[in-house]
Amino acid sequence: MIITIDGPASAGKGTLASYLADRYHLAYFDTGMVYRAVGLEMLLQGLDTANEDAAAAIAGALTFQKMMELSQNPEFRGPQGGKNASIVSAYPRVRSLLLKMQQDFALHPVFKDGSPANGAIYDGRDTGTVVCPDADIKFFVTASAEVRAERRYKEFVAKGIKTDYQEVLQDIKSRDERDSTRSAAPLRAAPDAIHLDTSDLSIEEVEVKACEIIDSVISRKKLA
Ligand code: DC
Repeated sequence: MIITIDGPASAGKGTLASYLADRYHLAYFDTGMVYRAVGLEMLLQGLDTANEDAAAAIAGALTFQKMMELSQNPEFRGPQGGKNASIVSAYPRVRSLLLKMQQDFALHPVFKDGSPANGAIYDGRDTGTVVCPDADIKFFVTASAEVRAERRYKEFVAKGIKTDYQEVLQDIKSRDERDSTRSAAPLRAAPDAIHLDTSDLSIEEVEVKACEIIDSVISRKKLA
């Protein structure tokens, strides 16, 4: 069984994907990792992320194992890692060079310890449209900009990072605008995606709703 979760930033894709991976014993592929890996490798090699040819060379040589190694670096999830990932993810050549690696995971999904899984759950903005267009279930998870800003604001506060709600909201709105109008992988739902608006739902309510949908598809399609 292959499940994809697309949607805008801070809509709760990652939280839902991790929960569903556990619940249905699926291997989890956080596809942002491929762009983070390319961005970090460029940083480590002292390459400028504005250099698209260099980014493409790094992307072409990236293996799953190398990506997992790079993910151990503290900068992988750090602010610079995120910024670099965002820059390289906008290069169409980089995206197409990283496509096969992402698609191959669905053919042989593995858990973190390398043991085989019966299926995979993909998290990322183009997983239902480009990476796995034939996925069994596609979710498009959304929430209003205000709700997403509030969630992100609370995360910052919990981490002790001083910030302003209005600033966070403005940031989310600009990112939505950039993401939906950019030429490489613009944010859009697959025509057959199931929309899940999480604005008025708790995490638990979102999880219950997603499970109901998955269970009904499993019984209809007789998926394992
Ligand atoms: O989800 P994340 O923050 O780890 O993603 C890192 C960057 O990669 C972010 O700018 C979004 C981008 N990305 C993408 O373009 N396509 C995906 N399928 C996943 C992430």
